[in-house]
Amino acid sequence: MFGKKKLPPQIDKDQLELIQNAQKRIKQKKRLYAHFVIFLLGAVFLILANTVLGIGQDITFFGKEWFLFAILIWSFFFIYHLFNVFITHKFMGKDWEQKQLDKLVAKQKERIDILKKNLSKEEIGQAKNEVLKEQKSKALKLNKSNLTIIVAAAKNDAIGKDNKLIWHLSDDLKRFKNLTNGHHIIMGRKTFESFPQPLPNRTHVVITRQQNYQVPNGVIVVNNLEDAIDASKNDSQPFIIGGGEIYKQAMTVANKIELTRVHNDFEADTFFPEIDPSAWEEVSNTYHEKDENHKYDFSFITYLKK
Ligand SMILES: NC(=O)c1ccc[n+]([C@@H]2O[C@H](COP(=O)([O-])OP(=O)(O)OC[C@H]3O[C@@H](n4cnc5c(N)ncnc54)[C@H](OP(=O)(O)O)[C@@H]3O)[C@@H](O)[C@H]2O)c1
Repeated sequence: MFGKKKLPPQIDKDQLELIQNAQKRIKQKKRLYAHFVIFLLGAVFLILANTVLGIGQDITFFGKEWFLFAILIWSFFFIYHLFNVFITHKFMGKDWEQKQLDKLVAKQKERIDILKKNLSKEEIGQAKNEVLKEQKSKALKLNKSNLTIIVAAAKNDAIGKDNKLIWHLSDDLKRFKNLTNGHHIIMGRKTFESFPQPLPNRTHVVITRQQNYQVPNGVIVVNNLEDAIDASKNDSQPFIIGGGEIYKQAMTVANKIELTRVHNDFEADTFFPEIDPSAWEEVSNTYHEKDENHKYDFSFITYLKK
């Protein structure tokens, strides 16, 4: 059961023919050599039989002893044998060998060509993949350098409750509209569902793990943040617009944060991650006091990744 399986002989048909012919040739030559030795011994025996033993001493042809004719006839047979081996059955002459060699070389060339073709196809495929990968990673890098998180967060980092925003600040909404107008806005599935309908003049990129998530025409669905950034690669300024889960993942890849800080604490179920001052530098800060249109004090703050 565990014995090794005998492999069939891995010998080429042409090589096999070559070996078999070589064996035949050796046999032919051996036989010719044996014939030659027997012929020599036979000739000596015939001479001795006549001269020493006196066999057929009075038989002559044309005045010559009979053994001379016997040796002559035998030598004809030997020459015929010789002729057969070296001329008639000379299947392994130089031309034949050259033919065999050419055949084998042609076969090897064919094999090498096939290997080369396969190899170059693979190599071209690999090179293409490498170029695509490089282009993709360059595009991603470029995009990441402009990737901006836009968020409105309370003093306690609250951003939403029951899949809704917690406040209404018209200037904050205007700012959001102005900044994101004409751009890709990347969001989690829950944030997308918190809109009554897609926002006008923006390309929505929705991240979900669902495979058949249905969306209105024009909305792009992806299955992870990297693909969302990739889908926005032609936009010089894509935005991450939330919610909590997506912000958390985007903090390491985004380069800028446009924060509206609402200066109150709120009860919430979704929060913005803490902004680490060692990773982010505040580059602008504009304070707005509450008024008849704004129930809370707030600040527009811009951070850049250090
Ligand atoms: N204050 C603000 O500025 C602001 C802005 C936006 C949103 N919000 C608030 O934030 C809340 C929503 O935030 P949230 O954290 O609950 O949800 P979310 O981040 O909007 O969406 C979460 C969903 O995104 C998908 N997702 C997340 N990570 C993924 C990944 N790595 N790969 C594939 N899919 C992924 C999953 O969708 P599936 O479950 O479909 O797989 C997940 O359930 C709401 O209350 C909203 O009002 C506030």
